[in-house]
Amino acid sequence: RTFFRALGGATLVSIAGGICIFVYVTQKDRHPGTQLPYDPEKKTIVILGSGWGATSLLKTLDTSEYNVVIISPKNYFLFTPLLPSVAVGTLSPKAILQPTRYLARHKARVVTVIEAEAKEIDPFNKTVTFEDDTEIKGEVSHTTIPYDYLVHAVGAEVQTFGIPGVQEKACFMKELGDAEIVRVHIHRLLIFQAYNNDDNVDAKTIVVGIESAAFPGQDDTEIDRLLHIVIVGGGPTGIEVSGEIHDFLEDDLKAWYPELAGRIRISLVEALPSVLPMFSKQLIEYTESTFKESKIEILTKTMVKEVKDRSVVLQMPDKSIQEVPCGMVVWAGGNKGRKITQDLMAKYPSAQTNRRGLTVDDHLRLAGVNGSIFAIGDCTSTSYAPTAQVASQQGAYLARVFAQMAKKNTLEAKLTQLEHYETTVTDAVEKTNLNSEIETTRKLISNVKVRPFHYSHQGSLAYIGSDKAIADLPFANGNIASAGVATFLFWRSAYLSTLFSLRNRTLVANDWLITKIFGRDLSRD
Ligand code: FAD
Ligand code: NAI
Repeated sequence: RTFFRALGGATLVSIAGGICIFVYVTQKDRHPGTQLPYDPEKKTIVILGSGWGATSLLKTLDTSEYNVVIISPKNYFLFTPLLPSVAVGTLSPKAILQPTRYLARHKARVVTVIEAEAKEIDPFNKTVTFEDDTEIKGEVSHTTIPYDYLVHAVGAEVQTFGIPGVQEKACFMKELGDAEIVRVHIHRLLIFQAYNNDDNVDAKTIVVGIESAAFPGQDDTEIDRLLHIVIVGGGPTGIEVSGEIHDFLEDDLKAWYPELAGRIRISLVEALPSVLPMFSKQLIEYTESTFKESKIEILTKTMVKEVKDRSVVLQMPDKSIQEVPCGMVVWAGGNKGRKITQDLMAKYPSAQTNRRGLTVDDHLRLAGVNGSIFAIGDCTSTSYAPTAQVASQQGAYLARVFAQMAKKNTLEAKLTQLEHYETTVTDAVEKTNLNSEIETTRKLISNVKVRPFHYSHQGSLAYIGSDKAIADLPFANGNIASAGVATFLFWRSAYLSTLFSLRNRTLVANDWLITKIFGRDLSRD
């Protein structure tokens, strides 16, 4: 009895201790200390973007050596790997957002965070012009600031290849707003609510005619059209979106809308001969067989030629054209460079010739520029895939580059001072000592080396629905392919630990638990 009492007491003390530490850490985080002010003697780094590359740079950068300005139209970091989960309500949007100011407030020196879209970079005068594009703006909403170093980390936008109807009628899966549109749209498809263009939902969603299904006596063919969801692109985005929508139907809608669930169809359209070309063959086969079991139809060698109000036009493998009725199209057809990136490239026509994005050297310096502009992440055209892994490693690398540059600048300033002082000294002993110090400083300067960027691939992971994930993990000199429920648990723990803050980890873990216990939220916004 005494033993059990002692055990119970120890457990209670440990739990109370754990809670106290948690509260202490979170409260300390909420009230960070005083920061160093802006220093006109220090160089200024302007970072464009608040995504994977920019946030990783900001997180790692020693701001005591620089003034930092961060400009982005979104005042938060978006954890994109979990975005498809927001589209079906498994996670709430705030769980995968991290306000940029939160990170900025924890840096040694004040970081200026500006919510605006960079419109023009003038690399010759070293300035950047940006604009507040939001509806509520003050009298000044457009300005230009100088920089010493510019980090271009604006990511990419959705590639539509100019295919008719895609931009206007398809839903995307790139930004937080896209996931919310998909979520609202699925709900509307299912509960057959009348669609009203005034109610805050982006009008580009393909919803025309949904209200008709709500009416008694609706034609069966029309209901089947409305309940056909077409996902375009068999890359990881298209696969993950298909898997998440399938789970939503299977886990929640079957129970709440039994009369509809059996009529919903998901088709995945891919122009190439196979989905997920970046994964190993066995994982592609595993995904295809899981999708088959889940009744997700995969149409490979099939190209979307047009998105219409009530259908998609497909070019089939035999080159015939088919118009397939559907109620919703989610477009996941890949990336293309943003306008600001294309404009920057146009300023260096001989050095910037790769249409995929900005050409950088192995130190991530923009080709054609004198070392004052760096580019990282999806806006670049390197030999690496446009992934979060690459962007965040590049961001962390740049932080180390800036640290080395600061060290070199400090040593060079010291050298100049010593050399100047040496000319004024007459005492022989002091001169000898000074010369030796000058030599040491020169050696230290030459030892400050900035190594080229080296990417370390940590593996590829993707969620494929039905509580299954696939993983290609580097091992020794090869790869280990893993798939199934255990890989899904690994996928979850990997992303939970990758989230940038304790707040996000708590929110995501909590949402997963709530969804498991109570199911997804079915209320209409
Ligand atoms: P982004 O993260 O896109 O950030 C760009 C930033 O620039 C944004 O903050 C944007 O608001 C800002 N910006 C845009 N225009 C301007 C402007 N004019 N001026 C200033 N700022 C601007 N990769 C993985 O490795 N693993 C995954 O599991 C994974 N899952 C994904 C799931 C989805 C649904 C998507 C869409 C992508 C996924 N990716 C994944 C890819 C990954 O998200 C990108 O490779 C990564 O976001 C690239 O980082 P970035 O910093 O270059 O760009
Ligand atoms: P993607 O470029 O990987 O795939 C787009 C697919 O759409 C291509 O396979 C292309 O053939 C197809 N396509 C384009 N036009 C088409 C048309 N008209 N008809 C039919 N098919 C068409 O794009 P995705 O999936 O958005 O990924 C972008 C980047 O983000 C990739 O580098 C990817 O690795 C990364 N990512 C990684 C994830 C992960 O690791 N889990 C998840 C999501 C994205």
